Amino acid sequence: MAQINHLAIIMDGNGRWAKNQNLKRVEGHKKGANIVRDIVTHTRRLGIKNLTLYAFSEENWGRPKTEVSTLMKLLVEFMTSERKTLLENNIHFHPIGNLDKLPPFVKPLLKKLDRDTQKDSVMELNLALSYSGRSDLVNAVKNIVKSNINPKDITENTITENLSTFNFGKDVDLLIRTGGDKRISNFLLWELSYAELFFEESFWPDFTTDKLDQILSDFYKRDRRFGLISQ
Ligand code: IPE
Ligand code: IPE
Ligand code: MG
Repeated sequence: MAQINHLAIIMDGNGRWAKNQNLKRVEGHKKGANIVRDIVTHTRRLGIKNLTLYAFSEENWGRPKTEVSTLMKLLVEFMTSERKTLLENNIHFHPIGNLDKLPPFVKPLLKKLDRDTQKDSVMELNLALSYSGRSDLVNAVKNIVKSNINPKDITENTITENLSTFNFGKDVDLLIRTGGDKRISNFLLWELSYAELFFEESFWPDFTTDKLDQILSDFYKRDRRFGLISQ
């Protein structure tokens, strides 16, 4: 049976969900934030150790200012409302991405929640914010060069260890993308190397814990060969 240590989700389709309901895109983001809550606590109940959620990409900065500022406000609301649940469930909130780009009213809160939820944690919730897989790889290369390592000593681990996902799940076992599109959109490029991919038609605000359970039961049946032959 396939094992799962690291689940990653591209939470896509908020805008289209809202459009279908004749609502503004921001309403889709609000509904989407509530689903995050359910999925995080459900993942914790299932005992999955690492959950990485793609909440905001580096490319998403190019969206209209009003949409970006709503997303930032929703992020602050999420951190405030979920603090207690994260602490009670020993879930470490760990933001990843180019966090320096986030507005000043967001950055200190991210740091504080990260610090406050670290102790005794049994699950990592990695929130990808202003994240770009390519830029994470570029940063890794910069760090490696700065370390003056001898090129002959560079291994795959050297790269893995210098990515923002180091210290937790590393390789993704299962990637789910909601919203019907079948692409990676610059998420966890290195870490997805041997991930099982699931593309879910539902928009993120219609995603449920039942749908997650269905995908997981399909995942457990998959034969992950990693280039070898079946057992
Ligand atoms: C995902 O939903 C949330 C973010 C990217 C911030 P979208 O906002 O991309 O919704 P669609 O894909 O336009 O429907
Ligand atoms: C990917 O969704 C990023 C997040 C879900 C945060 P996008 O909506 O930005 O991706 P594209 O534009 O469809 O590739
Ligand atoms: Mg989208």
